[in-house]
Formats: sequence, C-alpha cells, structure tokens
Amino acid sequence: MFVENEWKIIEDSFDANRHQMAESIFSIGNGHMGQRANFEEAYSGKTLPGNYIGGVFFPDKTRVGWWKNGYPDYFAKVVNAPTWIGIHSWIDGELLDLANVTILSFERVLNMKEGTLSKTCVVEMKNGAQVEIKSTRFISMTESEIGVIHYELTALNFDCTLCMSSLIKSDVRNQDSNYDECFWQSIAQINTEKECVAVDKTIPNPFGVPQFSVATAMKNVFSRDIITVHKTEGGILSEIAGMKMRKGEPVTLDKYAAQVSTLNYEEQELAQIALQRAEDAAKKGYESLLKSHKKVWAEKWKQSDIVIKGDVKAQQGIRFNIFQLQQTYTGEDSRLNIGPKGFTGEKYGGVTYWDTEAFCFPFYLSTSPETVSRNLLLYRYKQLDRAIANAEKLGFTRGAALYPMVTMTGDECHNEWEITFEEIHRNGAIAHAIYDYVTYTGDRTYLVEYGLEVLIGISRFWAQRVTLSPTKRKYMILGVTGPNEYENNVSNNWYTNYYARWCLRYTLEIITWTKRVASEKYAELQKKISFDEREIGLWSDIVNNMYLPHDDKYGIILQQDGYLDKEPVTVADLPADQRPINQHWSWDRILRSPYIKQADVVQGLYVFEDEFELETIQKNFNFYEARCVHESSLSPCIHSVVASKIGNEEKAYELYLRTARLDLDDYNKEAHEGLHITSMSGSWLAIVKGFAGMRVANNSLHFSPYIPKEWNSYSFSINYRGAVLTVTVSKKNVTMSLTTGTIPSIQVYGTEYKLNTGDNIEIELKK
Ligand code: BGC
Repeated sequence: MFVENEWKIIEDSFDANRHQMAESIFSIGNGHMGQRANFEEAYSGKTLPGNYIGGVFFPDKTRVGWWKNGYPDYFAKVVNAPTWIGIHSWIDGELLDLANVTILSFERVLNMKEGTLSKTCVVEMKNGAQVEIKSTRFISMTESEIGVIHYELTALNFDCTLCMSSLIKSDVRNQDSNYDECFWQSIAQINTEKECVAVDKTIPNPFGVPQFSVATAMKNVFSRDIITVHKTEGGILSEIAGMKMRKGEPVTLDKYAAQVSTLNYEEQELAQIALQRAEDAAKKGYESLLKSHKKVWAEKWKQSDIVIKGDVKAQQGIRFNIFQLQQTYTGEDSRLNIGPKGFTGEKYGGVTYWDTEAFCFPFYLSTSPETVSRNLLLYRYKQLDRAIANAEKLGFTRGAALYPMVTMTGDECHNEWEITFEEIHRNGAIAHAIYDYVTYTGDRTYLVEYGLEVLIGISRFWAQRVTLSPTKRKYMILGVTGPNEYENNVSNNWYTNYYARWCLRYTLEIITWTKRVASEKYAELQKKISFDEREIGLWSDIVNNMYLPHDDKYGIILQQDGYLDKEPVTVADLPADQRPINQHWSWDRILRSPYIKQADVVQGLYVFEDEFELETIQKNFNFYEARCVHESSLSPCIHSVVASKIGNEEKAYELYLRTARLDLDDYNKEAHEGLHITSMSGSWLAIVKGFAGMRVANNSLHFSPYIPKEWNSYSFSINYRGAVLTVTVSKKNVTMSLTTGTIPSIQVYGTEYKLNTGDNIEIELKK
C-alpha cells in the first residue's frame, strides 16, 4: 500500500477511498497537540477532520440503553479543536477542491526522521489550469503550541489569477458526539490586518466540569509583498491574498499557527498569548523552527531507534510505531496521557486506559528520560482522590481506590457494566507500573513520596472486593471481567486474583521498607489517609489464602472457574470466513465459546514470569495460544514476548508481524478511525523484551538475545539510569556499546559484564 522505505511513509498516488485511512497514517503531533493529515486545500470528498489538543475535552452526556447505578454521568471526549491548517485557493475564479480536479501526480510523505509531513501534487482543474502544489508542515517539538506550514503553488500551463485564503475554522464537530451537538461556541473573533485570532469555548455542561477555551491565532507570510483582505464569516476567519500568477513562478505562503488553551492560561489572556506565539514563531521563521524541531527528533531517535537490517518492511513498521509513540506522548506534563488512538482519531475519546501502564509504560521507561515515566505515574497519583470517589460510588469505603477503566481527569467515563464495574484488573497494572519504575530506575524515593499512597488505596480496594468462601475457606473474586473481554461476569479470573494477591504482597513489602527507611514520612502518610495497621492482618491472610484456579487434569492454570466446561474447540476449528468472530457472531455466542479475545492467562505469565517454571509457562502458552483469536490489537505482542521466552521463535515472529504493521497494512480495516497507538508499544516489547530478552532484576540488566531468521541484524538503544546503551544482534554476535554513563552490571546469557562510557563488548550469539 505504501512505498517501502526505511525512514519514510510514502503514498505515491491518490485514492479517495483510502483517504481517511491515509489521514490517520500521516498524522503528526508533538505530545501536546496533534493533527490528522487532512488537506490544507478544500476537499469535498470523504474526510475525518481531526485536530486535538491534549487535555482539552468535553464531558459528553452518557448515552446507554439501560441505566445502572454507578454509571458515569459523562464520557470525556477530546474535542476536535478549531482547524488551523486551511489554505484554500481559487484559480481564475475556480475553487481548488482536491475532490474535484484531475490528479496528474500525487505524493505524500511522512518523514519520520524529521517529523514532517509533505505533499507534492500536480492537478488539472475544470478550467484547464494545471497547478503544482507543494506543502510541508510540522507541529513543533520545541514550541509546543505552534504548527507551521510551508505552502507553494505554481501555475504550470498558463498565467492566471490566484486568490489564496489562509483560514482558521472554528465550527468543527466531533463525529462521536452522543447527541449530535457541536461542543464549541465562539466567544471572540478578531480579524484585522495585525491580528487574526478566534477564541472558542466548550459549551456549558451540567456536570460541573470546567469549560475549556482555546485561542487559535495565525500569522501568514506570503512570498510577495501583497495587500491582503480579512474576512470573517460564520465560523471561518480568513486572510485573503489576490494576485496574478505567472506560469512557472511559485507563490509561497508560510503559515504560523498557535493554539493555546485554558489548560495553561486564563481565559482573558488567551487571545493575546496566541497572537504573541504566532508572531514570535513568524519572527523565528520556518527554517529556524524546522531546524530546532529536527534537532529534538534527532535526539529522540538517538534514544529510541530500532534498526533492522535485511527487512525494509520490518524497519519501516517499527520506526512508524516508535514515531507515533514519540509524537503522542512527550512526558513534560503530568496532566496528559496516551489515548488508545493518540491524536489520530476520535475513537475511544482520546482518554486514558490501562493500556498506558500495561503496554506503553516500559517503552517510555527505556527510551526517554526518567521524568517522562515518572509523569505517567504522577498522572495516576494526582487522580487518586477520584479513584477513591469512584470506588465510593460503587459502595467501597475507607479510602479504597478503584482507578477508572477510561478517564480524562480521574472520573470513570466507561459505561458498560461488565467493563466499568468488573474489569477491575486495571488496578493491578497501575500498581505494577510503580514497581516497574522503581525496579528500572532504582529511584525508591518515588515510593515514599507518592507510590505507597497509591498502593495502599489499591490494596484497600482488593481487601474489600474479595469474598471469603465459607466452604472453601479461600478468598475469591466474584463477578469480574478479565483482560479477555469475551467472557463477562466470571468468578475467579486467574489473572485478576493473581494480580490482587501481588498488589497486597507488594504493598506490605513497601510498608515494611518505608517504616524502616522513612519512618516519619510513613507516620505522616498514616495520618493523612487514616491508615490503621490492623488492616494489614487481613491483607496477609488474603495473600496466604487467595484462590487461584488450576486444572490438575491438564496441568494448566484455569482462566476462570468453569473455563474447561466450554466446548473443547480451538482456533484451528474456526472457519476463516467467521473471523473476526466479533464481526460475525452474536454476543451470546461469543460469550459461550472458549475463544479468548486477548492475552489473559498469558498476560499474567508475561508480567509474573519469574514466579513460574519455564515448563509451566510453556504448557499454558500452548494451551491458551490455541484458543486466542487476538481480536484486540494489544494481544499478539504479549503472546510474542512469551513465545520468545519459551523458545518458540517462529511463533514469536509470526505474532510480532501482526503487531508491527497493523495500521500500515490496515489488517483490521479500521485505520481510517485512527491508529492503534497504545498497541504500537507492543512491537517494541516484542523486539526488546522478546527477541532480545531484556529484563531488569536486582539492579542488573539482563539479555538473552536471538535473531529472527528473516533479519540480518537488529539494534536498539535504551536509556538506563543515565546511561545510553546500544544493543546490536547479528546472526553471529551480540554487541553492547555504551555511549554515555556507566552500567555496573549487565548480564548476557547469565554472564556478568560491567560497562563504562565508550565500552563495546562482543559476545557470540547463542544458537
Ligand atoms: C481492549 C482493552 C483495551 C481497549 C483500548 C479493547 O478492545 O479489549 O483491553 O483497553 O480496547 O485499547
């Protein structure tokens, strides 16, 4: 579909039927805002306009068929913000509408190395004019509120008149609005020779959620010294330049747009700040802004690139995933997070899921400065009071915290009972991210300052959520949905029970440690959250007596009570034309079937592998892989890591491929809705944790690499405690090079090495 290239995504012809998909693929962003690859030009064809500002949302009133107590009042949705990219042209009076011209040549390029999106095309209009369009745009990595477009038009076959209008469009709508409302109201439109800014505010809501205002300003610099006129009509502010265009002589426009919001500033100062930002950007100029933007990207690639030799498609796939992750979350602001679609579409509302901790967290931990993953943790810490309120809404007491399944501010937004109330395993992933951070960075101060408070809230929840079975004298967790959403309201989902036990055990361990090293802080915390140590007695009892379903006959972990009562069929028995089952089967049939949507027991074995014998992991992997249809994009990557662990290299590679080019090859035929951003980290996991076997334990970095036979070599860099380590795996050797810092202990296939800056060690690849 796209031209194979190591650093670029290239579309070399235009297909209107694929345009919405391409709009997702070619999205650009800078962690603070993001823009789908909508055309600058008028386009009357099918398009999904999308411009999103992180943290700016609207609480859309919940819509459900049957209301249940505990449902949230609203679903937070990142609002589709006013458009800043518009540049419309009329040639000899005819509107240049890319859906209404003959396209003679077309090329769209996402340059992942530099973070730019370019388009070059030649079109013939109804009036016979042939025009070449060249545009390059980027959303600045250094000026977080700035987007820039360099735009160039050339008449190719005759002289003509050109009327070029650069615009800001305010009246944009979310396609996913529950009640077909426009979420914006205009509060100011200033459009003069000197100032061009629109201020829009989200409409009032009945939930007491603060309204957001956004100011969008632009500064247009035409290549010719030309008098422009300003027009404001409806929701559109335009600056219009009229001129004669000589054949072969390009007309250029540099457009600098700023978007600022009440997330960071007072409403009354917004317009002025936006104007100032656009003005300052114009003063710096396109080339200078691009230069600093490219520098940031160069640094990001230095820390996070994966180089694959011998397979261009694989190379392009992994870089695309890394690129999208890096432009979705940059980690400077602990109020922001990673929506499953990032800034590339409306689906999932741009809000936070357990995806962040369970899938994305290790990527940012290893490829960015420590502050980035710390901010992801702080996001949850700051929402702890809301997690406690969520739990209270469901009847829990005494500071028990249930983090939401889906959220923007900490309030639960999901409204399907089987997920909202039952998919409680998310609490486990949130606790485990704290463990991951501390283990990876060695920064235990986080535990004292913030981590322990979250852990206690979560543990209090588990202690109240379990039921002590009077017959079995074991603690059970009834009425849950595990990660496998193709089973609801089950009892004793092994993954959930195991995780609950782990959370309690880890919290107990951290309490003991904190009391020892920071007794005063611990006493303060006890007071703050009224923590009575008598609670601990119950926790220990649960740890010792948690019920963990197991089947002795097959010698496997049981996904949940009764799982083996299901029809004894596997994925091999499923006719290809019935897959994906979620598009072919009724819901009750899916629920009754043994088919598993996504990694569940295997997800648990992935997280807690150290607590199991290899043979146990192997047995369970083989059993559950045969029953898993991987109908969540989050699934194949986890099975891939576990397949690597048990030495099933072929399976690991097959599952890796399903993650790595999921959107580029549009396997699921849904890329037009936006990209699977959170699962993109899965391809990184499959390489770094899977193929290279990277783990951190006892203050030591461990590797046990192998190489997929399709590749000649692969190489990746990670950040580890201030050091930058590059690992290269070829068909013969494993090379570890340290460009910065010192790593006191690296173990490769169990042998320990110490690396200082500049060191390079080469070890023979184990066959
Ligand atoms: C998956 C969830 C995931 C959500 C958002 C669902 O299809 O089953 O595990 O959190 O998508 O990515």
